Amino acid sequence: MGERLAVVSGGGTGIGAAVALGLAGDGCDVLVVGRRAGVLAEAAGRIDAAVGRPGAVTPVVADLTDPEQVDRVRAAVGERAVDVLVNNAGGYLGGDTGTLPGVAAHWRANFDANVLTAVLLTEALRPALRRPGGRVILLSSIAAQRGGGGAYSAAKAALHGWAYDLATQLGPEQVTVNVVSPGYVADTEFFGDRMTPEGHAKRVAATLVGRAGEPDDVAAAVRYLAGPSAGYVTGQVLGVNGGSVLGR
Ligand SMILES: NC(=O)c1ccc[n+]([C@@H]2O[C@H](COP(=O)([O-])OP(=O)(O)OC[C@H]3O[C@@H](n4cnc5c(N)ncnc54)[C@H](OP(=O)(O)O)[C@@H]3O)[C@@H](O)[C@H]2O)c1
Repeated sequence: MGERLAVVSGGGTGIGAAVALGLAGDGCDVLVVGRRAGVLAEAAGRIDAAVGRPGAVTPVVADLTDPEQVDRVRAAVGERAVDVLVNNAGGYLGGDTGTLPGVAAHWRANFDANVLTAVLLTEALRPALRRPGGRVILLSSIAAQRGGGGAYSAAKAALHGWAYDLATQLGPEQVTVNVVSPGYVADTEFFGDRMTPEGHAKRVAATLVGRAGEPDDVAAAVRYLAGPSAGYVTGQVLGVNGGSVLGR
């Protein structure tokens, strides 16, 4: 059994899978949560093999917008304390916004996917967070800081205000709460078939370092915030964006 327990939502793909790999390599047992059993099982097997520790990663299938399914994560945690909670599940959900019912559905879907998933999982595991020493990390987006994503931008921005309150509430119990805000990260399922060579080039050109982000770039920031040396860092937004947005 690992020394610490981490829960990573959306841990079967992209940034979440890189975070799960990193935290497993740091000695954590990791619960990876998502809606697709096959994707989670594949990631768990791959990470177990990479870190040489069978059973390091355990899949938990749950749609985190559904309170009843969120209980599956609580059950999987059992009596253990949660050292690290990474609220990474989310994404941009499109929709037909040509009608008001369409607008409502589009905004609700983006709010549910990006805010409710994090709120429900955090509330479910809040009593189990390690005290002292627990870490809560929320995955936002550069879109929260500079716009560009409509309902998605607004939903991610909502995480920031909530994180400040959560940090205030949990700080006296020595639990930190921080936001990691990635810029453009390639090699994930985020863009699906929406990305074009022009779109890729435009995003790379907007960085100061002249490249797309990789899931490991974001995972490194999460691992830092999850680690013992970050105990004095709370209520912060850490941009991992290649310099596409400066100083906020
Ligand atoms: N890639 C970028 O450029 C970028 C930039 C800024 C921020 N971000 C943010 O970073 C996070 C990770 O994104 P990514 O790029 O790694 O994309 P991704 O590969 O699409 O990862 C999203 C993950 O969230 C899971 N998920 C989505 N809705 C869920 C739900 N209702 N319940 C449980 N799991 C759910 C998905 O698994 P299932 O579909 O199997 O449920 C998937 O594993 C997201 O919050 C995204 O908004 C990404």
